[in-house]
Amino acid sequence: MPRAALRTLAPAKIILGGEHAVVYGIPALVLPLPTLQTEVQLRETNVPGIKVWLADLPQPSETQMDFVFSACRTILEGLDRPMPDGTLIIHSSVPLASGLGSSASLSVALARAFSRLYGASTDPEAIQALAHAAEHAAHGRASGVDTAAIAWGKPLRYVRHEAPQRLRIAQALTFVVAFSGESGSTSSVVMDLAARREADPERYAQIFEGIAAQVAVMERALAEGDLVALGLAMTENHRLLQDLDVSNATLDRLVTAAHEAGALGAKLTGAGRGGCMIALTTVEKAPALAAALSAAGAAWTRIVTVPAQD
Ligand code: PMV
Repeated sequence: MPRAALRTLAPAKIILGGEHAVVYGIPALVLPLPTLQTEVQLRETNVPGIKVWLADLPQPSETQMDFVFSACRTILEGLDRPMPDGTLIIHSSVPLASGLGSSASLSVALARAFSRLYGASTDPEAIQALAHAAEHAAHGRASGVDTAAIAWGKPLRYVRHEAPQRLRIAQALTFVVAFSGESGSTSSVVMDLAARREADPERYAQIFEGIAAQVAVMERALAEGDLVALGLAMTENHRLLQDLDVSNATLDRLVTAAHEAGALGAKLTGAGRGGCMIALTTVEKAPALAAALSAAGAAWTRIVTVPAQD
């Protein structure tokens, strides 16, 4: 008789501030996006081996399949359990290579599936650790910010190697997320920045300090519900990301278009050099802002809201 499938979910995420600097110990602020999800279905069978089906990708690349198998192996090593015999079906509404945490979302959903299958802890700490190991194996120098936000499913202040802290958000937030149409590679942008920083550590330390100051302003603005201050700090964070040379012409054009359309603030989100940007707005103004970003060349836009949190 076929056994019931085990089903787990994990959201996407956006980084509000502190990306890249977080790799060097600066705090980052990160928000889960539950409207975009990865779903893993695991069905055990008596046929030896595991079959993987990426349901939304008719022709997955070798790299994509390798990532799934590598994540499975790393998570199972962490659990000290064997690869089960069965079928793994993966559905995802998280756009790939767009800075919204598609691989971390998959790693968390897989960690939840295997942990449940083997009766291991599904506490956020345990899932975060397993998923982070999977991300680290695949992408090298990952700070863990994505897996933390996704495993906890709450807005967080994240410092590398520390327990994440819940962010206080006094007032619900509305963002337009816009995709530049260009896929970014997190590991290559992170590695390129690491090489440039090694050649001129003082210059980069100064930029990272500037980012830390903006992240502190954002944290205070979130706690006080001061959307104007939050928007200004996001825009300043984008300027510092330009100084780090991780933005590109398309992202800069979308950020400018967001300002011209009346956004409270705008910045790239995630690794940059492609992927997405985010613009802070209000519920009322979000549709017009989304239309302005599409007119400025965004491949797609999404309006997302983040609820208040004590
Ligand atoms: O996965 P992305 O594109 O959202 O980037 C993650 C954030 C970085 O700071 C650029 C890298 C990291 O590991 O923290």
